[in-house]
Order: sequence, then structure tokens, then C-alpha cells
Amino acid sequence: MSTLVVVGLQWGDEGKAKVIDILSEEADAVVRYSGGDNAGHTVVVDGKKFVFHLVPVGILRKDKLCVIAGGVVVDLDFLFEEIEDLRSNGIYIGDNLMVSGRCHLTQPYHKAIEQLSEESLGQKAIGTTGRGVGPTFVDKCAREGIMVCDLFRESLLMRKLERNVQRMNSQLAAGGSAARFDAESIHEKLMAQAVLLKPFVAETELVLSAKIDEGENVLFEGAQGALLDVEFGTYPYVTSSYPTSGGVSVGSGIPPTKIDRVIGVTKGYCTRVGAGPFPTEDTNNDGNVLSKRGDERGATTGRMRRCGWLDLVALRYAIRINGVSSLALTKLDVLDDFDEIPVCTEYEYQGRRLNRFPAEIDILQDCKPIYTKCAGWRSHTAGATDAKDLPGAALAFLRFIEEQTGVSIGMVTTGPGREAKIILDESSAHFD
Ligand code: GDP
Ligand code: IMO
Ligand code: MG
Repeated sequence: MSTLVVVGLQWGDEGKAKVIDILSEEADAVVRYSGGDNAGHTVVVDGKKFVFHLVPVGILRKDKLCVIAGGVVVDLDFLFEEIEDLRSNGIYIGDNLMVSGRCHLTQPYHKAIEQLSEESLGQKAIGTTGRGVGPTFVDKCAREGIMVCDLFRESLLMRKLERNVQRMNSQLAAGGSAARFDAESIHEKLMAQAVLLKPFVAETELVLSAKIDEGENVLFEGAQGALLDVEFGTYPYVTSSYPTSGGVSVGSGIPPTKIDRVIGVTKGYCTRVGAGPFPTEDTNNDGNVLSKRGDERGATTGRMRRCGWLDLVALRYAIRINGVSSLALTKLDVLDDFDEIPVCTEYEYQGRRLNRFPAEIDILQDCKPIYTKCAGWRSHTAGATDAKDLPGAALAFLRFIEEQTGVSIGMVTTGPGREAKIILDESSAHFD
């Protein structure tokens, strides 16, 4: 038995879903533990593209228990839409999906509050996904949130809704928004959804704990990325949850003592959606090439992702705070056409070298990357499945990252499809 965590080490969209899909073959359970439907996780199987927002990607394989644990906030409209969409694509969803009674629920007023907040920030807007995820977590921490288990206690639900709707309507009015909500109609809709959700609801922390005790393989599906973590990311330009490996215990109820390994996912370059510092961003032609070759468009919002070079200062930091045991490096093929591949090894800040990833956002904004230029390979790695097929310069690029981070790269991906991968270290592709 073992437990494996897959986390993103950048600002999300590292290609986690593809790595999770590969690892899920040997998993008994696949668990989302943080975030909400702000996540967009893409898996391509036999040329068919699936984009997941709430349902764990393990659902693509037969007989995997897929768990949405309590650390995830759920928009029921979205969840049911996703389930229907998957079913219409021939994916079975029934007793293989569980939702924790502890999940907090995103309500329509959360989206309106988020919109108001983003508008009022003007130039300083976070550039959120607009899914109401942040305000749902705010309500959770403010001890006002509505949980899945509340759906089955009709009058308590109504009391909570009345209080929340009143609070939200006055916040909206004070902020100049015309949006207003009505507790009664939200209640009515939730009561209907409760009936549909009931078969999926479980005490997932106990179910997972028992599975681990029984020697089964449990895979934790990270959403977002370490640099978006509300604790350790580029605050305030972050999401509102804990994507890092520490978030696994908080969000799933599986204690740190039961977590065996953490696989960290990084692209061979870097992207970011939304606002916030990005020291290695390339707004020139190379950035455009990365964007085009990598098809860097948000899987949730369709926004263009900002593109730039691999940042080892940020990567070393993300590796440390996640306790990464091995790396999965994705999208190597996107680098196929460059003469040189810049990799940031240090920052320069106010004329001095800086090796740490600063918490102070103004310092990070002013950091200039110091690059080492790795030789490009200008040949085809796209679709490669064997390390023997990689050009020497590509292998040297991978070795350089290993040397610089002190962590080995166990897996490399070379295309969106399930098969486009190279396993460099067999143990990185298996549970035991
Ligand atoms: P996630 O949020 O970390 O799961 O990543 P996304 O699904 O948001 O974005 C990753 C994108 O890159 C998706 O469109 C994937 O299909 C694609 N992708 C994943 N691995 C590779 C790869 O090795 N090469 C290429 N070209 N695309 C990849
Ligand atoms: P996956 O799981 C990339 C970003 C948003 C915004 C910030 C806050 O696909 O990697 P939020 O809606 O969470 O309050 O927005 O976080 N963001 C992501 N960026 N991938 C994601 O998820 C993201 N989830 C949130 O763009 O900058
Ligand atoms: Mg994504």
C-alpha cells in the first residue's frame, strides 16, 4: 500500500492531470483535497479531450473510487453539469464517486461578491476565475459557510441561508452592485439538488482512512499550484486554499504520518493565468512561441496564459515546502524549436543577488531573473516515449534541472496524450 500526492509546483496548469491520469492506473482511490471548480484538469485519451473541474480524473479508469474531500468547495450546479457531461461521454459515475459531507458549497451570491470585489480592485484585481471560490472559503473561515451535510437539515439550512443572503445583499448594496438574492429560491433549488447528491455523500475521511489501513493505494490530486497557495504563494495574488502537500491532510483528513511520497509537477518553462508577479515572464516573441506551441489557454476560463522561462528560485522553494520526492517535468516538446533555453538560477534585486523566494510581493515584483542559457535541441521530442529517443541537449537540460534542485526527474511528458511520456525512474510511475 502507499499514498502518493501529486502537486503543482508553479502557478497551476503544470500538467498535473496528465501525470495523475498516468499514476491513477495503479490507484484504488483518487482524491481531490483542495480548491474548487477553479481547477481545470485536462486529460487526452485516444485523441479525446476531457477537462475536469471537480470530479477527480481517476473517474476515467474503471473501478477507482473518486473522492471530493472536505477541503474542496463545491458548486452543485457545476458538479451536476460535469457529471452529466462525463456520463454523456460514456463515463460511468455512480458508486465510484463520493463527496464529503464537510465540503462547503458555493452559492450564487459568492460569485456576485467576487465580481464586485474584483471590480472594486480595478488595476489591482487578482484576475480570479470568477467561480466564487474565494468568497466560499471566506465564509468557511468566517464560520458562516453552508456545508453539504446542511443540505439534509432543512430548517437549519433555511436559517443559515437567510442570514447569509441578508449579509451578502447588504454587502452588494454597499458596494454599488445591483445583484440581490433570495433565500427562499436558493433553498428550494438546494433541496432538489440534495436529493440528487445524497447517494454520493459520505464520511470520506473515514472511508479513505480505512482504505489506507486495508493496504490500498490512494492518490491525492493536487489542484492549482504551490505559488498560488494562500499560505506560501505570491500573496495576495493567490487562490484561497492550500494546494501544497500540507493541504492534503487539512483537506482530506489523512494525517501527515500516512503520506508516503510527493510528486511535484513542473513544466520545462513557466505560465501564469491572472495577475501577480512573474519574474521570468517573457512578453516578447519567445513568450508567444511558448504560448502557441504549448497551447497555453486556461482550461477553466479560456484566458491566455502568461508565459516565460523556468524559474529555479521558485522551483527550489516549491520543492522544499512540498517535500517533493521526485519531479515530473511536463511539456518538454514545447521547447523543441528553441536555439537556447533560458533557465533562471537566481534573482537580482537592487543590484544584489537573491537566492530566496521572497514573501514581500513588492520585492518579488522587482526581482530580475539571472539566466543560464541551456542549449536547445531543435529536433523532435514530441510524442517520444523512450529516453533513448531524446536528443543529448534535452537530456542535458533535464540533468541541469536535477543538479540545480537536488531532486531527480522521474517522469517527462512529451505531448498531451496519455501515452506521450518517458519514465526515467520506474519507481516514479508506480505506487510501491
Ligand atoms: P493542470 O491544471 O495542471 O492539470 O493542467 P491543465 O490541464 O490546465 O493544462 C495543461 C495543458 O497541457 C493541457 O492542455 C494538457 O493537455 C497539456 N499537456 C499536458 N502534458 C503535455 C505535454 O507533455 N506536452 C504538451 N504539448 N501538452 C501537454
Ligand atoms: P489548476 O488546478 C491556474 C488562479 C486564477 C487567479 C488566482 C485566484 O487547473 O492548476 P481563484 O478563482 O482561485 O480565486 O483565482 O488563482 N487559479 C489558477 N490558475 N490553474 C488553476 O487551477 C487555478 N486556479 C486558480 O487565475 O490568478
Ligand atoms: Mg489547469
